[in-house]
Amino acid sequence: MKFFLDTADLAEIEEAASWGALGGVTTNPSLYARIGGKLDDFHAHIGRICEIVGPDCPVSAESVAMTRDEIVADGLELAAIAPNVVVKVPTMVEGLAATHELAQRGVPVNMTLCFTVPQALLAARAGARYISPFVGRFDDISDDGLAQLESIVTAIGNYDFTDSTVNGEKLEIIAASIRSANHVTQAALMGADIATVPFGVLKKMVQHPLTDRGLDAFMADWEKVQGA
Ligand code: E4P
Repeated sequence: MKFFLDTADLAEIEEAASWGALGGVTTNPSLYARIGGKLDDFHAHIGRICEIVGPDCPVSAESVAMTRDEIVADGLELAAIAPNVVVKVPTMVEGLAATHELAQRGVPVNMTLCFTVPQALLAARAGARYISPFVGRFDDISDDGLAQLESIVTAIGNYDFTDSTVNGEKLEIIAASIRSANHVTQAALMGADIATVPFGVLKKMVQHPLTDRGLDAFMADWEKVQGA
């Protein structure tokens, strides 16, 4: 499983990148608003993220257009920011049509706001490079986000979509809307390719009380060794 950071915060991205396990970044309009982002700085901001993570890490930047032609135009502009930009497109009719067009033009697309197997299958056929099923938002409405993710992982795994994706690259499923380290565990066990996680969850993924307790014991014993 690869780990993407779900944030537009440059300090978080820099810190996570320094840990050596960062495979990419996903952003969305809400995450950009959360850091106080301004419209006229959006493209430059995505460029700064691309510079931090380097050319091998995909950075998803979302189109906020609502019609296929506008999404394609938006997507081409976003893709021109850096070679590792992935255009994030909502799973809707206009989004599917735009994804198809962008894929044909060689632009990788991350289809977002995906909740169901039929949505995921359509996204895959349209040419999405990534599909982002949302786990936490399903839980928010008292549904089972992990069960829905598992169904999508299974259904997508039943077929070969390499003839639909840009350059025949492997279609990858990004477990999104991740709220806990356990979401990551379960997503990995069911075979999701990627988990995109908020920085808070990434920090929790490192931690365990037994690690802390063990470290405290080692440090205490080492002090005894030093005093001997
Ligand atoms: C995915 O790419 C989205 O940006 C994100 O995971 C949404 O998460 P949320 O439901 O916590 O807002």
